[in-house]
Amino acid sequence: MLELTTEYGRVCVGSTEELFAEAARLGGAAWAAAPRGRFAWALTGGSTPKAWYRWCVDQRALPAETIAETHWFVSDERCVPLASDDSNFGNAQRQLLEPLEMPVGNRHPWKVALGPEVAAEGFPAELWRVAGPGRGFGLCFLGLGNDGHTASLFPGSPLLSAAALAEAAAPHFAAVEVPGKGWRLTITPAGLRACDQIVVMATGAAKAAAVERVFRGIEEVSAVPAKVLRSCAERMTWLLDEAAAARL
Ligand code: 6PG
Repeated sequence: MLELTTEYGRVCVGSTEELFAEAARLGGAAWAAAPRGRFAWALTGGSTPKAWYRWCVDQRALPAETIAETHWFVSDERCVPLASDDSNFGNAQRQLLEPLEMPVGNRHPWKVALGPEVAAEGFPAELWRVAGPGRGFGLCFLGLGNDGHTASLFPGSPLLSAAALAEAAAPHFAAVEVPGKGWRLTITPAGLRACDQIVVMATGAAKAAAVERVFRGIEEVSAVPAKVLRSCAERMTWLLDEAAAARL
């Protein structure tokens, strides 16, 4: 696996197997670095994580203590029931948490039934009961959209306006209505900065343009939202396969 140091943090370029193994290793390391019983791991949505979930289950890749003691979240969510195929936490639960018999009490889905704004308002308290007041996730998984979005921070998001980015006490999580996608729940730039470690995994040729826009482009954060991660560079790991890194 090729490793690069960039202004956006550590970049690993390798095979899918190498990336999956590194993601699991980073999870175990983040668990070991966290205070006992206070490790909050946020998974993410989309198709990339589903392949990693299958790999983790097939390879029994997560250590027993990680399985027993990690508190599971997702860094963003759609406002749909857990049973929906669109539910990020629902997919993580069906494809990783249940097969590995993760303790039910350590599973923390967004409370979407309360409605987007109430769910977003109540989310930090549940995380802080685990991680400690004002703390972020011990490890936050993210993906990268073909348009450069990450979590549910999409191009043009009000959460990426100059005012929002400059807000001193910006919320760590928010509900945001995304044109054409409905209401989303998401970690915000302030929430990302509160995380101890962040991992972005992106694979496939369709990600190459977004990777190039993030790492080499001169567009604003509001146009290429994943550029917001530059402010988290010292805690970032980007896991890219060769196709996604082709224009890096
Ligand atoms: C979501 C995700 C989203 C995802 C990217 C990449 O809720 O859809 O959080 O940000 O990570 O869209 O998705 P793929 O891995 O499917 O390309």
